[in-house]
Amino acid sequence: MSFLRALKRCAVVGAVVLAGVSLQPASASASATPPPGPLVVGGTPAEQGEFPFMVRLSMGCGGALYEQDIVLTAAHCVDGSGPDTSITATAGVVDLESPDAVEVNSTEILQAPGYNGTGKDWALIKLAEPIDQPTLDIATDDSFNNGEFTVAGWGAATEGGGQERYLLKANVPFVSDADCEGAYSGSLVPSEEICAGFIDEGGTDTCQGDSGGPMFRDNGNGGWIQVGVVSWGQGCARPGFPGVYTEVSTFAADIQSAAAGL
Ligand code: ARG
Repeated sequence: MSFLRALKRCAVVGAVVLAGVSLQPASASASATPPPGPLVVGGTPAEQGEFPFMVRLSMGCGGALYEQDIVLTAAHCVDGSGPDTSITATAGVVDLESPDAVEVNSTEILQAPGYNGTGKDWALIKLAEPIDQPTLDIATDDSFNNGEFTVAGWGAATEGGGQERYLLKANVPFVSDADCEGAYSGSLVPSEEICAGFIDEGGTDTCQGDSGGPMFRDNGNGGWIQVGVVSWGQGCARPGFPGVYTEVSTFAADIQSAAAGL
């Protein structure tokens, strides 16, 4: 192989890896027409009020109301910790362009202590005022880290696609650490990450712009409980490559104490 071909091959492989396993939030623009096909990837539109804790963040990420004035999102969606009034949280609507949308600015960010791009992908955003919507409880032990999960977001409905105007939802099954390590050997942090998706067939997944949003399940008591934060994956909805989520139960105590200090 010539030097040039070798170089090109490296560049292409590098580009694929960057595009495929990017932790970057998507750009914040939304498509103007209602979603036509399968959505989140492979999901369906959420009903108004179905997931009232869902928040869209202006940098192009999702989040969930942990408190009425604190959003739980992904560390890779924010830029360090400290005072920050630059983020707008949009809540209370499935349609981001609805006149009923509630928009509140951030005041402060707390990025997970020790976050360096591997694991620990959570952050809290303090809001200037509370949003009058129900909050989403987080799992404080691993008893909910199994079964069927729900994901929701305004991110891409196809790998490489644009952002969505209407909130989309999908259900995805738990994937064991062993199976997920099989897909992502060396990249997964099993104690800090939990995987979900249809590992054999693919087709349903979160995608770029869903980052920071919650993965949640039935709490056994008629409500929802958050088990994950959308973090990363190889592409979106590809067979063999489940979605990777921050394992909320691992960080529940840290999240609680961080929120108490905001
Ligand atoms: N990192 C992406 C974001 O910033 C989320 C990717 C999720 N990917 C997946 N295949 N589940 O929006």
